[in-house]
Amino acid sequence: MPEVAKLSYGDRQLDLPVHVGSEGEHAVDISKLRAETGLITLDEGYVNTGATSSAITFLDGETGILRYRGYPIESLAEHCDFLEVSYLLIYGKLPTAAELETFRSSILNHSMIHEDMRSFYNSVPRDAHPMAILASVVGAMSAFYQDSLDPQNPRHVEVAIHRLLAKLPTIAAYSYKKSVGQPFMYPQNDLSYCGNFLRMMFATPCEDYQIDPDYVRALDMLFIVHADHEQNCSTSTVRMVGSSNANLFASISAGICALWGPLHGGANEACVQMLEQILADGGNVKKYVDMAKDKKSGFRLMGFGHRVYKNYDPRAKIIKRQCDLLLSKLRIKDPLFHVAQELEEVALNDSYFIEKKLYPNVDFYSGVIYRALGIPVPMFTVLFALGRLPGWIAHWLEMQRSDSKRLCRPRQVYTGPTERPLVPLNERS
Ligand code: SDX
Repeated sequence: MPEVAKLSYGDRQLDLPVHVGSEGEHAVDISKLRAETGLITLDEGYVNTGATSSAITFLDGETGILRYRGYPIESLAEHCDFLEVSYLLIYGKLPTAAELETFRSSILNHSMIHEDMRSFYNSVPRDAHPMAILASVVGAMSAFYQDSLDPQNPRHVEVAIHRLLAKLPTIAAYSYKKSVGQPFMYPQNDLSYCGNFLRMMFATPCEDYQIDPDYVRALDMLFIVHADHEQNCSTSTVRMVGSSNANLFASISAGICALWGPLHGGANEACVQMLEQILADGGNVKKYVDMAKDKKSGFRLMGFGHRVYKNYDPRAKIIKRQCDLLLSKLRIKDPLFHVAQELEEVALNDSYFIEKKLYPNVDFYSGVIYRALGIPVPMFTVLFALGRLPGWIAHWLEMQRSDSKRLCRPRQVYTGPTERPLVPLNERS
């Protein structure tokens, strides 16, 4: 007998079906609510609202669990590389060696962008934020790759997926090169996904560039832990835009814009800026913890807190460990890492953070490790987007293929003026 939730309203009694997910998530199905009662629900920020069912990622915020297609994030970060995890998220299973080789070869051999797209970079200001460039150029892919736009055509979709995975690192690296006035470095097909990105970012035509395997491994891990996170703000945006049957490039461009905000993916950039401010202010972490507790200050600890995690973000643990390893391996003594660790220590022992269950999230340590890799701060959220791309694609695909796919169009509670007569302009005082 399926579970029901009973709703009584006025003289009405309504049995609402309860859906139970594979990990025991219970959800009240309100799809008939308005038709049967005239009621809608209201849930600012969708704190309690499930937008859809999904088989891609499971996270348990209370216990700090994160799994992609059932595999724990810790195992994936330790044993896989980023393209392998991208395949898992998009196609729903870990690839065989042969499948991965075919997938990898397709991605690595399509990393160049249309030469006319390069001229786009000539028209943006040199100090343009790279997220502005990333969103614009990805949106422009709808203009340059018109043979892969139809969301209902499986071949178009497959080509668009491979083009996005292959070209986003190139588009990202070019936005960095533009900002430093250096020549763009063409991708090289014989390099690994992350090695190619590092070379396009840091090589110049003047000398050979040595790709450090430690950097490649760290970048692979960072992209893997950023790859998906169920119905977060930017992924929900990709689903929302895709629900209108907009093409994949347009949907991903919208996701990039949503990720940019400092409350979401932009927090990694904001967090390092906060750590630098604390360092410049004598490293007085307690002062900033106290400010974060004072609502009037308007200050928040960036990289802290999470809508779902009310425990330590498992990704932050992985990144922190990698941070430690890389910094000691490279013999880098980054004072920001010490400030971050001290800030964490003070905050996690403070009743305000304990009561509100505020822990470091994925953005807290990621900036420190990006710095160790030589990534400039304005590129931090771009790297988040590079990592999140396969997750966005997987959700867009799942939504397009769902039998229950519908245009996303929430309702509202209207609180504006009731009907009133219009006063002609010449009679208004
Ligand atoms: C990401 O959704 C995802 O999965 C996102 C992400 C992904 O992988 O896609 O995990 C990536 O976006 C991580 C989050 C990055 N953002 C930041 O680090 C920005 C700082 N954190 C916050 O602003 C905040 O924690 C949010 C936005 C992340 C979550 O906010 P919620 O769920 O809307 O909660 P809230 O703002 O209502 O905060 C609840 C309480 C409030 O106090 P009260 O009004 O109840 O008294 O906690 C306080 C907040 O003031 N609070 C903080 C705080 N975060 C929440 N106080 C101080 N510092 C903070 N960082």
